[in-house]
Amino acid sequence: MKTLAVISRKGGAGKTTLAVNLAITAHLAGLKVMLADLDAQRSASDALRARNSAGPVLAEINAGKLFSTQVSAQHDNFDALVIDTPAAPETDVLQAINCADLCVLVCRPTFLDIASVVRSAEAVRRLGKRGVIVLSQAPPRRNGVEPPAVIKAAEALRFTGMPLAPIGLRARAAFQQSIAHGRSVCEWEPGSAAAEEISRLWELVAPMLFGQGPVKTLAANQA
Ligand SMILES: Nc1ncnc2c1ncn2[C@@H]1O[C@H](COP(=O)(O)OP(=O)(O)O)[C@@H](O)[C@H]1O
Ligand SMILES: [Mg+2]
Repeated sequence: MKTLAVISRKGGAGKTTLAVNLAITAHLAGLKVMLADLDAQRSASDALRARNSAGPVLAEINAGKLFSTQVSAQHDNFDALVIDTPAAPETDVLQAINCADLCVLVCRPTFLDIASVVRSAEAVRRLGKRGVIVLSQAPPRRNGVEPPAVIKAAEALRFTGMPLAPIGLRARAAFQQSIAHGRSVCEWEPGSAAAEEISRLWELVAPMLFGQGPVKTLAANQA
């Protein structure tokens, strides 16, 4: 079993949206997935409870229960544990990083988010973990031209020394609408730009998490 922690020290960055979408995408790829909601706001739990079909198993826990939850998920043959984290307290976020095989650092292309990701990247490195930064709620391209805010963010994020995913999530209504129904954007609007972003991001993240072996092999093992 591999553990993916979705982190950002900024509220509203898009952690829950990304965690829920990736967890459902992994589930639809045939993996046995647990989504651990570490945030007392319980947004990921609200989203998954609104879901009316099979999906990731939900664990509503606090950080103190994370390690034992991880051990029991491993014991129960889960393939993936996705952790949706709160923005604070710091100790809870560090606990999630500590349990993770890979951290996804969610960042809006704004000055304050970038400053905060620099600190998160340091924490991930200090704990000897791997991380990848994903831009979230980025303004869409106009006539194929990347908005300056996105270009500047990509430049600034180079100084973290952490890779920036070449696929980010743009600000799109589908992300807000789908999560209210506990659906991934791929289920909500198949073939849409939002669905394309999540699919491509999963294709990038899955090999980072599971190694180069195709995820399909894992799914086939479950069959
Ligand atoms: N890519 C996106 N496009 C549009 N709205 C988004 C996107 N990602 C998140 N949001 C919205 O932004 C708000 C905060 O997102 P959320 O995932 O709850 O952030 P966090 O978990 O980091 O606090 C929510 O209203 C959510 O619907
Ligand atoms: Mg959240």
